[in-house]
Parts: sequence; structure tokens; C-alpha cells
Amino acid sequence: MITSRIPGFYNMTVEERRELLASKHVFDDEKKGHSLEQDALPVTTADNMIENVIGTYPLPLGLGLNFLINGKDYIVPMAIEEPSVVASASHIAKIVRNAGGFTTEATGRVMIGQIQVVGCPDMEAAKKTLLAEKDALINDANAAYPSLVARGGGAEDLEVRLLNENSDSKYGKMLVVHVYINTCDAMGANIINTMVESLAPTIEQLTKGKVFLRILSNYADRCLAKAKCVIPPELLATGDFTGEEVRDGVVHAYEFAASDPYRAVTHNKGIMNGIDPIVIATGNDWRAVEAGAHAYAARHGKYSSMTTWSTDDTGNLIGELELPMSVGTVGGSIRVHPMAQVAHNMLNVESAEELAQVIVSVGLAQNLGALKALVTDGIQKGHMALHSRSVAMAAGATGEMIDIIAEQLIKQKEIRVGKAKELVEEYIK
Ligand code: MEV
Repeated sequence: MITSRIPGFYNMTVEERRELLASKHVFDDEKKGHSLEQDALPVTTADNMIENVIGTYPLPLGLGLNFLINGKDYIVPMAIEEPSVVASASHIAKIVRNAGGFTTEATGRVMIGQIQVVGCPDMEAAKKTLLAEKDALINDANAAYPSLVARGGGAEDLEVRLLNENSDSKYGKMLVVHVYINTCDAMGANIINTMVESLAPTIEQLTKGKVFLRILSNYADRCLAKAKCVIPPELLATGDFTGEEVRDGVVHAYEFAASDPYRAVTHNKGIMNGIDPIVIATGNDWRAVEAGAHAYAARHGKYSSMTTWSTDDTGNLIGELELPMSVGTVGGSIRVHPMAQVAHNMLNVESAEELAQVIVSVGLAQNLGALKALVTDGIQKGHMALHSRSVAMAAGATGEMIDIIAEQLIKQKEIRVGKAKELVEEYIK
């Protein structure tokens, strides 16, 4: 098994890192890092992915290290522009690793397709008719996507909901059919949309109503993944702060996010700092994951923290994160984007369920990274060290000059482009 513990990775050059990964057989022969070069997404491929293409928009791809999840090591590809995120995830993953690693679980891979029906002369009768025809409708849905059924998935169940039954508005009253579809290892948007579109004519006939929307729901609350970590306080000690102080600070920070939407949004943004980069790197739809995650954070009627942090009887810090995770390991842009293929190759997950569990572990680690920094030194210290490099580059520093200027900016406690420009000018004089 490849270890994700690679001491000193941070201090290597990009070339050295690539060579090391190749020597550790992190990529299989076919993928041996070739797509990590400039042309990671050929513009001809991009031109076939979306419309009106004029180029591509690269992001830095870093590796989250030290992740041990259910006893398995993961090297986590993270595509993100924000400094500190990858370092922080790896730092916390190392702490959690020393505490035994993350434990995770996932529900099945059931996604939801919705069909909106309006104008039924009798909504209750329409509902009854649809439920009486449930098996036939499920069969019809599956007939629209036989290859999914062949892979062991397909439509499994169907429900009918009546919305706004007492509405006076002619637009308000509607019947909504939910088709529950096991999409196996695909995120499944195209599959679901094809299935629900195929059912629309029959549903119009059965209900005597008119179908408008036929689309998946991104609120994938039957496709959940959950990560947990248990950390003895001594592993949390940092600088002048004891482990107990850090632990208590984290639980206080959680309580703040749990009770105040203003804080919860920022707290959850920090969680998505970990989740989006891996969702993006693996060629998945991060808007879908974001939308579902935030809705799930409001499932009890009030927008709240996505994570929970508490202590157990022996004083350990317990963190948990459960989210809808509608991601795939096949289909969509995964097939066509060379970097997505590299990311999957490196992650070495065997199923979408496994990928989902890695993703929530990274989200949980990222949250703890942010909270640990916030309740101790504040985030600026670590953030600014990395930010100073971007500032140095924005001021025109290149090559070895970047580190020299960045260091001077930190030393002089003035991490501004103006100051960096002065230093660059001085350097090249
Ligand atoms: C910054 O990108 C993310 C944080 O604001 C998250 C948080 O406040 O918990 C540091």
C-alpha cells in the first residue's frame, strides 16, 4: 500500500515531488504524471466540453498528505487557488493519523429525480393512480437507461408528494413525483434526467395534468457520507497553547457556528475549502455538492454548522461531518478531463461511495485546521506566510527571488504589493 506520509514533501521542488510520486508508483504506468504538464487540459478537449471556448483556466494542484481513513492511506489531489488550505489539511490529517485515523461510513448511492405535475383535476386521485402504477413506472424508468440496470443500479422506488394543497394561487398547487435511483458509481445527473424525462408522457396521461420540470434534485439526502475523528488533547497542543485549551476552543467555536448563521456560513466555507478542491480535481460537479451541503446544514430548520465538535468522557475531542455527497468515479467530465483521470488514479478509490468518504474526511480536517488556527494564533500568521509568495509574484518577483522577497515581507511585517515592488526593485538594482 502506498503511504500518504511523505515527510519533507513541502520543501521539495515540483520536479522532485513528481519524481518521488513516480518512484512510489502513485500513478500507474499509463498516467505516470504526463498530464501534469502544461497541457493538462488540451484546448481541443476543452472546446468539446463547453461552448464558446477561448482557452483553459488552470488552478494549482496540490496534494493533501497524511490521510488515513478506515486504515487505508490516501494521497488527496486538491485543486485550489487559496494558500494554506492544502498545508492545513495535511497538518490536521497528520494529527488525526496519530490518533488512529478517520473512520467513515456512507449510505447507499440513491439519488432523486423530480417530476412536477400541475393542473390535475383531482390531485388526490392523481396521487393514488400514480402509486397504483408505481412498479410499471419504475420499470419504464429503468427501460430508459438499461445500461445502469446492467451495472446493478436503476430506479428503485417512487414517491408522490402534494405541495401547497391549500394554495389559492393558480400556480401554487402541484404534485411532485420523486423517483429514487441508484446511480452506482456515477454522479448520475444525465441518467436521472433521462429517466424522469422518459416518464413525463405517461405521468401526464395518468394524472390528467401537465408536467413542467423533470430534473434531478441536488439535495442528495439519500446519498450521504460521514466522517469521524477522535483526538486525544495532547495531540492538539501547539506553541504556548495546551491541548486542552485548543480542544475547548474548538468546541466553543463549534457552539458559535451551531447557534449563529453569520458564523456558520464562514465555518462551513472553511469546510468547503477542503471539499471543493478534491471535488474539482476529480472532475465532479462542485456546485451540486455545495448546494446540497448548505441545504443539509439547514435541515433542522435553521442554517447551522455542518460539523459537530464535542468531548467524550476521557477528554478526547470528537469531530463529525455528515453531508450529501453526489460525486462519481465514472461519467461526466471524468472521462474526458486528463487531470481528473490523474486525480482518480492517484486517489485509488474503488467506488463513488469510497470517494465520498474521503471527501468528507478532508472537509472535517479542513474545519479543524481553521478552528485550531482561529482559537490559537489566528489564521493570518500561517496564511500570510504563504500569501507573501503571491504578493511577491504580483510585484514581479520570479524564480528564486520569490522566496527572498516573501521572506523580507514577513520579516518586515508588511505583506503588501507596494512594499514587495520596492523590494523587487532593490533586488534587481
Ligand atoms: C478561510 O478561507 C476559511 C476560514 O474563514 C474558515 C473559518 O473561519 O472557520 C478560516
